[in-house]
Amino acid sequence: MTKSENITWHHSQVSKEQRQELNHHKSVVLWFTGLSGSGKSTIANAVEKALFDQQIGSYVLDGDNMRFGLNSNLGFSAEDREENIRRIGEVAKLFVDAGVITLTAFISPYRADRDKVRENLEADEFIEVFVDTPLEVCEQRDVKQLYAKARRGEIKGFTGIDAPYEAPLNPEITIDTSKQPLADSVKQVLTYLADHNYVSLATADEN
Ligand code: ADX
Repeated sequence: MTKSENITWHHSQVSKEQRQELNHHKSVVLWFTGLSGSGKSTIANAVEKALFDQQIGSYVLDGDNMRFGLNSNLGFSAEDREENIRRIGEVAKLFVDAGVITLTAFISPYRADRDKVRENLEADEFIEVFVDTPLEVCEQRDVKQLYAKARRGEIKGFTGIDAPYEAPLNPEITIDTSKQPLADSVKQVLTYLADHNYVSLATADEN
């Protein structure tokens, strides 16, 4: 498992449960997965803002952003994507331990990699959010003009074009951004969190 020998786990004096009590909400990973351009980052960031407005602490770990720093030594081979997701899974686990609602927005195309992240957390600490926007719609949006490049053969191994995307089999939440506006997708996620007692939300009247 680990390369290091002679290391000992040092226990904190403050438990995850105590941090959650202090925060008045549970901590959990909302794992957004889907094609490039499907809307993962957009929804995750809008949920973060909505939670913030409700005085709930959350944080977005975004695929593109993490590749500028922590994962700057990784590319897009299957091995590098696996390592990308492994690292983010570990970071997300630390954030959950810190009492934060953690939103991750990575294509995370391989089912096995996502399942490993799930297994590394407690049963109710991983919520898989499948952003199931059809490839045609993602490609038509092509915000970053990457699909066009991939079609021209200028990018090799682009997810959905010449690299695989393995859809979740049992996601807790499925969102198709081609069928509903952003506000509805945000509401869908917030409602899930409230219905499953991760957070309690002020009603519109109380705001
Ligand atoms: S993942 O597959 O390892 O989970 P990640 O979410 O970190 O991917 O990064 C995906 C982003 O990198 C895409 O949104 C896109 O902007 C960019 N990108 C660059 N090359 C590729 C590629 N070959 N396949 C997919 N995305 C790519």
